[in-house]
Amino acid sequence: MNVKVLITGASGNLGTAVVEKLMKAGFGILAVARDAEGLQGAVVAPVDLTDEKAVQEYVAAITSGGHRIGAAVLLVGGFAMGALAETDGAAIQKMIRLNFETAYHVVRALTPHFEQNGGGQFILIGSRPAFTPADGQHMVAYALSKSLVFRLSEIINETGKGKGISSAVVVPGTIDTPVNRKSMPDADFSAWVQPEIIADAIAFMLSPAGRQTRETVLKVYNQS
Ligand SMILES: NC(=O)c1ccc[n+]([C@@H]2O[C@H](COP(=O)([O-])OP(=O)(O)OC[C@H]3O[C@@H](n4cnc5c(N)ncnc54)[C@H](OP(=O)(O)O)[C@@H]3O)[C@@H](O)[C@H]2O)c1
Repeated sequence: MNVKVLITGASGNLGTAVVEKLMKAGFGILAVARDAEGLQGAVVAPVDLTDEKAVQEYVAAITSGGHRIGAAVLLVGGFAMGALAETDGAAIQKMIRLNFETAYHVVRALTPHFEQNGGGQFILIGSRPAFTPADGQHMVAYALSKSLVFRLSEIINETGKGKGISSAVVVPGTIDTPVNRKSMPDADFSAWVQPEIIADAIAFMLSPAGRQTRETVLKVYNQS
């Protein structure tokens, strides 16, 4: 049976590069995206990943439909500025929903499928402010929500021992995206990291060599 890769956030700046790279590498792609443009060749479904029931139904549908999923690349996330004084509980909840729950819901729904099929890989996306307080202090909700992603990866790795299930966190520096260029017009864009380079790093993690790495935190910063 053809083993497939599930990619969330597939229509985002990083997502489109990752889908293209993994397709070229020969993987069949199941993409979660609300906009299917540019995702030709992937099986695309619009799912609100903050809705746990919707995620469970989606994963049940794709796994009972005969797809054998070997890896999940969970790219959904979002950013917010704000120091402690500006960050209320609602701001924290919003970032946790977007950066953590969207990954957690998929991890929880997909793990039984991995267990029943001899294993699988999770690739999560972290962020540097989660472990550098000098940056995190300016984006408190974002940093705290991304720090949960690292803890989730550790828990997956512990739970998955002996079951062939592993998790890695890829940590991009500043990605060269239109949104970042607009918000930081005076920055040196050449210091940033191209989405295609992060896609290469993710493709490596899914390669035979990458599959044998353990407890990986892969920092892809370029000079940013
Ligand atoms: N950009 C950077 O410099 C940078 C740096 C470090 C880490 N990261 C991380 O890298 C990842 C990708 O970043 P990016 O710049 O590619 O972000 P992006 O372009 O904003 O893409 C995020 C994607 O997530 C989707 N999404 C948002 N909420 C969703 C939900 N509730 N359910 C399902 N899908 C949802 C969006 O779909 P819609 O468009 O349909 O809403 C969008 O396609 C994120 O985890 C981000 O935190 C980014």
